[in-house]
Amino acid sequence: MTIDDASTVHAGRPLTPDFIDHAWRPLASATRRDDGFIDVTWPDGATFPAYSLWLAENAEGYGLESRTRESTLEPRDLPAPDSITAASVDADGALVLDWADGRRSRVHPGWLRHVAEGRHLPAAVLPEPVMWTGSDFSEPPTLDGSNILDDDAVLEEWLATLVRYGLCRLTNTPTDPDFVGRLVGHVGPIRDTNFGLVWSVQAKPDPDSTAYTGLDLGQHTDLPTREVPPGFQFLHCIENTVQGGWSRMSDGWAVAEAIREEHPDAYEALTTLDWVFCNRAKDAEHRWVGPMIDHGSRHQPLTLRAFYPVRSAPHMAPADMPRAYEAMRVFATMARDPRFQLVYPFRPGDLVGFDNRRILHGRDAFESAGSRHLRGTYADHDDLYSRLRVLRRGMHS
Ligand SMILES: [Fe+2]
Repeated sequence: MTIDDASTVHAGRPLTPDFIDHAWRPLASATRRDDGFIDVTWPDGATFPAYSLWLAENAEGYGLESRTRESTLEPRDLPAPDSITAASVDADGALVLDWADGRRSRVHPGWLRHVAEGRHLPAAVLPEPVMWTGSDFSEPPTLDGSNILDDDAVLEEWLATLVRYGLCRLTNTPTDPDFVGRLVGHVGPIRDTNFGLVWSVQAKPDPDSTAYTGLDLGQHTDLPTREVPPGFQFLHCIENTVQGGWSRMSDGWAVAEAIREEHPDAYEALTTLDWVFCNRAKDAEHRWVGPMIDHGSRHQPLTLRAFYPVRSAPHMAPADMPRAYEAMRVFATMARDPRFQLVYPFRPGDLVGFDNRRILHGRDAFESAGSRHLRGTYADHDDLYSRLRVLRRGMHS
């Protein structure tokens, strides 16, 4: 089938259980089976077994509610699995279902194709993550951000690069202290924390985090004190006249894989031995327990819990503590190895976004003469992914 055939407009398209403008993909056949499935086929040979009760939930004229595009069928009200009495394909290529209670539904064949190809899955529309090391880049992947709020193509490329490499820098953004909040708010909801929606990183006389000093900060991820640490972090340079203070980034995914290969004992300790994490703020007390390299469970991404200032205590048998500390030494040493690390200056107007659960970030020490002012904020993976999927609707329907 050519693209033109696929995108031909057909009148009276059935509603789909989403708000995606699916290309019309006419069916070649529909066959009712005795076990409750309808086998549909397309002219190119693709096939899909659609289960009758799933069709009942999602078909216009049955479970599908036209305004919300959600199913209104409570499971106890589902019909019997054999209640489709006939399945056919109409002249436009739509699936037509006759139900035992006399109703008839028409199902969009492009939506069926979308599911048949797995394009409804969370990762389907997003770029494949790409692991990187210090030999792939000398500086973060970079885009001109001067027009990002007005140009969805730039926004789409920025978000896609953030998903692919876990890291993308914008240059030429306005050095307005509110810009990072405006930009991330344009992507989706900002992830609020005890630091506030948008916060400043600058040396303060009474710091409540190592970030608010001029001290060197080793490679880390923020807020491992939370059940789900923020998915993305954004740092925007407003002013920088200090000596030093260069940024360092390393792909924690690549670091974890190298430790798995080269230091299997350390890898075992880092992925199985738990630590208690606790922030030390005067007005907040967040705590969580987990390993430093957390592969999560099925469908959950890698989470690195790697911020030593908020690591509170080992939560393991005393006999495991020496190897747990030794494994952390391996982790921190690898994370700073030039093999993995990018080191680059932060210039006013630069705005760096990174996956806070995958990318390890740090900074060199800086002198107190001069001033260095960053504005930062967080967003969750979910909201950034959602924005990217919506931007890509039509490109991948
Ligand atoms: Fe940080």
